[in-house]
Amino acid sequence: MKGQVAIVTGGSRGIGKAIAMALAKKSVKVVVVGTKQETTSQTAKELSNLGTDSIAIAADVSNSADVKNIFDSTIKEFGKVDILINNAGITKDALIIRMKDEEWDRVIDVNLKGTFLCCREAIKLMIKQKYGRIINISSIVGFMGNIGQANYSASKAAIAGLTKTLAKEYANRGITVNAVAPGFITTDMTETIPENIKTEMLRSIPMGRFGVPEDIANVVVFLASPEASYITGQILHVNGGMYM
Ligand SMILES: NC(=O)c1ccc[n+]([C@@H]2O[C@H](COP(=O)([O-])OP(=O)(O)OC[C@H]3O[C@@H](n4cnc5c(N)ncnc54)[C@H](OP(=O)(O)O)[C@@H]3O)[C@@H](O)[C@H]2O)c1
Repeated sequence: MKGQVAIVTGGSRGIGKAIAMALAKKSVKVVVVGTKQETTSQTAKELSNLGTDSIAIAADVSNSADVKNIFDSTIKEFGKVDILINNAGITKDALIIRMKDEEWDRVIDVNLKGTFLCCREAIKLMIKQKYGRIINISSIVGFMGNIGQANYSASKAAIAGLTKTLAKEYANRGITVNAVAPGFITTDMTETIPENIKTEMLRSIPMGRFGVPEDIANVVVFLASPEASYITGQILHVNGGMYM
């Protein structure tokens, strides 16, 4: 994978940062995308310290002009895009009877439309290259449902349909499209969950522990590697056995 170029959305923190670090350790050049310039640049600097080239781009993946800029800047800097990791994601939880239109729209826009916009730009380039690896980050909640997460679970279930469709559309162009569905992973996103709910969740995980971002990063790097060239349209569940 040495010399390949990857874009990691939501690469500034949490799971995305672990993915970016794991790719950098394979000598992949990484474009880190986040909304906050400071944390995004800080992560890109940490990656450069590992000895690989890395740039930071502050962008909102739900905005098509921002997404166009991510890809234009990547081409300008590195000349190609081999790997796209659609990891940027947010939650805005509420029971559906209290869920506001804006909460529904924002989660769908970032998690689902953002993935669509990035896939569209990436695939245009990857078709020309006759090579590409796209990995979309879904969630266990898209398959099991979760109280208070109608917007989030719908966005993550939709990513499975999007992934399978794109896999079929571009399988004969050297492009694979897969998704990883994490279970409960310790990051900022899960930090605010009340302790009693966390204890209850832990009981439902056969392995008896929460995941760490590296558990997801290792699987993503495998799917992005040449070793995974015959895998496409798959949803890989990484959850300690919580959902089978
Ligand atoms: N943690 C879990 O248990 C878990 C489980 C299943 C699935 N997932 C999924 O895994 C992915 C990463 O989750 P995480 O736990 O690492 O979340 P996190 O710690 O909250 O990090 C989210 C990342 O997404 C970026 N981001 C948010 N909105 C964005 C936007 N509009 N445009 C560009 N970047 C944006 C953030 O950047 P800024 O800080 O710069 O805004 C940050 O880098 C998400 O898709 C999430 O749904 C997580």
